[in-house]
Amino acid sequence: MNPQGPLPEPPLALLAELTHRCPLQCPYCSNPRALVTRAGELDTASWQRVLTEAARLGVLQVHFSGGEPTARRDLVELVRHAAASGLYSNLITSGVQLDAKRLAALAEVGLDHVQLSFQDADDASGDAVAAYDGAQAKKRAVAALVIAQGLPLTANLVVHRRNLARLPAMIEMAAGLGASRLEVAHVQYYGWALANRAALLPTRDQLEAADRVIEAARARLKGRVVIDYVMPDYYARRPKACMSGWGRRFINITPSGKALPCHAAETLPGIDYPSVTTESLEAIWRRSDAFMRFRGTAWMPEPCRSCDQREIDWGGCRCQALALTGDATRTDPVCALAPDHALIERALTEPPTDDLTFRRFAAARIQA
Ligand code: SF4
Ligand code: FES
Repeated sequence: MNPQGPLPEPPLALLAELTHRCPLQCPYCSNPRALVTRAGELDTASWQRVLTEAARLGVLQVHFSGGEPTARRDLVELVRHAAASGLYSNLITSGVQLDAKRLAALAEVGLDHVQLSFQDADDASGDAVAAYDGAQAKKRAVAALVIAQGLPLTANLVVHRRNLARLPAMIEMAAGLGASRLEVAHVQYYGWALANRAALLPTRDQLEAADRVIEAARARLKGRVVIDYVMPDYYARRPKACMSGWGRRFINITPSGKALPCHAAETLPGIDYPSVTTESLEAIWRRSDAFMRFRGTAWMPEPCRSCDQREIDWGGCRCQALALTGDATRTDPVCALAPDHALIERALTEPPTDDLTFRRFAAARIQA
């Protein structure tokens, strides 16, 4: 018997953050505030080895992400390797660097799916929040190329205080472009987004209006478009099951090869994250201290420890607990039962601001 209990199930999916380079500068980017430069990125052979090991471990899907994954010149080679390894591949992209030739090459080597982000329905607002002139027009053109290539398209619509009024138009635009799935996701407040919370957090009235918009769109588009809706957890009574539980379903690899249980895990102090350059993915998943630290329920404090939700939400989000309380082991303050829940109530009364910190290398801490 393994002293740490039964071995975990294999991860369902691997998020390959190929690079932190990105032509866009969204102020709610999920990348850490400390960005990896090009010189620090894994090379092609290392990524290929990671993909092979992932398939052997039982991973089913690989999400090629970033930053902007199309900034990697070897993307076609990596997708080819994923397909040859039997992995379902998804490209998560802003689209602004894609053209028909590159998309055809990706489809040719076995890319299975494209997830294209849209910042708004309105060109001026979308371009402004991405800090990239012409982004919206380029994205619409790329959506048409994806459909022409016969690839399934998910439109990722990130919503917040500044664009929620245009949610109906965003949904119409994405459905009109041929997306078969929409992921309407409220900004989640870590990293860059936490720094911009006062400018992005929606009001309760906005949230209630958005719920009605989603309900009506689901009814109208039934059978044609699936709509997934990710709520802003600040308004929830119970936290989300972040990553479906720490070290349970997902493994993230950073551009430099660190293996993380979630995209923000590096914010947690005192954890030495293993690197795929020195350890196998299997050893990392099954035995590393980093993946076992908050796996399961044994680490939980009260009130989680004796709560009947503990194997549903897994105590919420460790990174959010750290960001808000300074202690990653505390109950996620989003939970109404959490001793620190007043922090969330206080955030909801924060005076709004129009000031945004954009995700620029110049505004970031840099990892070589
Ligand atoms: Fe989830 Fe813990 Fe809240 Fe229970 S007390 S609902 S386990 S966060
Ligand atoms: Fe890290 Fe939720 S983002 S546990």
